[in-house]
Amino acid sequence: MLLLTLIVAGLITTAYAQKDPVGGFCRRFGHQTTVIDRKLYIDGGFINYSPMEIDATNYTNDFLSYLDLDHNGSRDMPQLYANLSKNSSVPSVHGGVLWGDDINKRFYLFGGEYSQQPPADSGSPLWAYDVLNNRWDLFGPPPAFVSAVSYGAGVTISERGRATTTAGG
Ligand SMILES: *[C@@H]1O[C@H](CO)[C@@H](O)[C@H](O)[C@H]1NC(C)=O
Ligand SMILES: *[C@@H]1O[C@H](CO)[C@@H](O)[C@H](O)[C@H]1NC(C)=O
Ligand SMILES: *[C@@H]1O[C@H](CO)[C@@H](O)[C@H](O)[C@H]1NC(C)=O
Ligand SMILES: *[C@@H]1O[C@H](CO)[C@@H](O)[C@H](O)[C@H]1NC(C)=O
Repeated sequence: MLLLTLIVAGLITTAYAQKDPVGGFCRRFGHQTTVIDRKLYIDGGFINYSPMEIDATNYTNDFLSYLDLDHNGSRDMPQLYANLSKNSSVPSVHGGVLWGDDINKRFYLFGGEYSQQPPADSGSPLWAYDVLNNRWDLFGPPPAFVSAVSYGAGVTISERGRATTTAGG
């Protein structure tokens, strides 16, 4: 009985460890990034947890994480953190862009594709992450002439409050 308990506990620990976006992450792709105040924010895309030989599933990455470019962790690489707020009402897409606004300390999540069923009433609303207050704000639907794209290239000019994204291939 004790042995069985230990084995079950071991399985639970392993399953839990596999979904750890910092300690258990193996590969990430299709995500969107931006840098604000020397922090590289990584949102969305797909993530594989190690060991990939056992589970090669491309999981939707629903964490908002960042690398601190001014503090190295192990192996002389910037330290990764996944402790920023992001709940399921904020979309987790792949192939979108983050329009970084270095002046107002926010970034906007624009475009991209859902790998799973999109939220019923989405209509591509614009969400923005507020770096200083660690929270997301909904900016509502973009103007009708703006259509969302994915796997394009985005650029932002914080000083002018302008951003654009062009369609990908
Ligand atoms: C994961 O995504 C990669 C890249 O798109 C693809 O080559 C691979 O087949 C996918 N793996 C699974 C298990 O779906
Ligand atoms: C992090 O490590 C790299 C490689 O050794 C080094 O070039 C860089 O200056 C380090 N960054 C910091 C902030 O210490
Ligand atoms: C995340 O963790 C880092 C390192 O412990 C800490 O400096 C930072 O304040 C944390 N951020 C939040 C939003 O909790
Ligand atoms: C999820 O986050 C959004 C944006 O910060 C917030 O408006 C909403 O109340 C949160 N929902 C829950 C269930 O916490």
